[in-house]
Amino acid sequence: MGGQPVASAPPVSEITPEPLPAAVREAKDDVLSPLVRRSSRMPIDHAVAMFQHQAEACAELGSPLSAALLRRAAEDLAAGGPCAAAIAGHEDAPGPSAVALRLLGAVHALVISGRAPALAAHYPSAGGAFDPADPDAPWPAFRATVAEQLPWIREWLTRPPQTNEVGRANLLLTGLTWAQQQLAAEAGDGPQPPVRLFELGSSAGLNLLAEQFRCVSSGFAYGPADSPVVLADAWRGEPPAWLRGAPLQRVVERGGCDPAPIDPRSADGALALRAYLWADQLPRVERLNGALALAARLPAPVEPVGAADFLRGVRVADGALTVVWHSIMRQYVPAEEWRSAEAELDRLAAESGPSAPFVHLALEPRRVGARHRFLLTARLGSGPTAVLAEAMPHGLPAWTLGQGDPALAAF
Ligand SMILES: C[S@@+](CC[C@H](N)C(=O)[O-])C[C@H]1O[C@@H](n2cnc3c(N)ncnc32)[C@H](O)[C@@H]1O
Repeated sequence: MGGQPVASAPPVSEITPEPLPAAVREAKDDVLSPLVRRSSRMPIDHAVAMFQHQAEACAELGSPLSAALLRRAAEDLAAGGPCAAAIAGHEDAPGPSAVALRLLGAVHALVISGRAPALAAHYPSAGGAFDPADPDAPWPAFRATVAEQLPWIREWLTRPPQTNEVGRANLLLTGLTWAQQQLAAEAGDGPQPPVRLFELGSSAGLNLLAEQFRCVSSGFAYGPADSPVVLADAWRGEPPAWLRGAPLQRVVERGGCDPAPIDPRSADGALALRAYLWADQLPRVERLNGALALAARLPAPVEPVGAADFLRGVRVADGALTVVWHSIMRQYVPAEEWRSAEAELDRLAAESGPSAPFVHLALEPRRVGARHRFLLTARLGSGPTAVLAEAMPHGLPAWTLGQGDPALAAF
């Protein structure tokens, strides 16, 4: 699922802080072995392979700390250690269940809520330090935390991971400014219309606040200068021409949908969002913290419904640009529901016109040749779908496509 696999999930809402644990200590395997013995060999082999696979993915995606921990956790699973006890019952869960990420998230939640101080010393997200040249340094404290907090971790593991990647707003803003430029080209000079922003698969709804974020890269900046969310390294190379000097957007209505919304204003919701970031990726941590601060003062309601039901309630409006946007959610929507969603998008396009414009923006993985690429597409009204840019899975950096790129012909 592009970068860090995530799945649709109920909000992690039952997490309650517990007293600080006693000093973290090495686990006693004899306490854990009855649970582990109940597992047959084959599911554990599967789990070991899943953890190893996830470790390699973390390494590729720039989280050496997560990679190191998961490599050691895979060994611990094979040896019947505390990690095996933690995931008992989930050994044969399929890859998309992301059990390895659930375990990483559970332990990260303990770290950032102050309940694993020895491990926190190794977690940059908690002010600690990790040296990739000494990748095994955090492992003893990680293993001890798992052993110490087994019941809590097992409870956390029952709920799938869910993230909300603020960096993807970089593409939303790119598509939005493109649509405004197209409208200005059609209508001539004049103030650009205000925006009604609707999002499918919003998770916590943080990207519904996109116009409040600032995108920055070499020689380029777009967005309010005092924003608490700075999307650094927004562009590799030159940003698209229409972004330079584009006016700021005025959003007059915003709302999203998600079958499992997370409340970013609740302590539990914020903890869940923070826990599923990788602890050594500080820019993501900072972006999330900034967006949570914004969310505290600017509501962005997310309805607990699926994409098709939500779209049935959306209409275009005179004098405003109606935007439907989504990122990395398409693969979670059942095929039949997505067909209904597309029919609603077609309806909105048909109902739109010069006085009530509509644009559909998407950042989704698309197969181009043998590869999946994360492409920003835009369809203004009933016009053709345009491929505007490509990005890394978390939205940063993005880049424009060269003429003749096969992705341009993929729609
Ligand atoms: C990978 S997350 C992406 C969240 C957010 N769009 C982002 O880019 O950070 C996918 C989201 O899709 C949501 N989802 C799953 N099924 C859905 C459906 N039928 N309609 C709308 N959203 C759905 C999930 O709950 C989850 O929050």
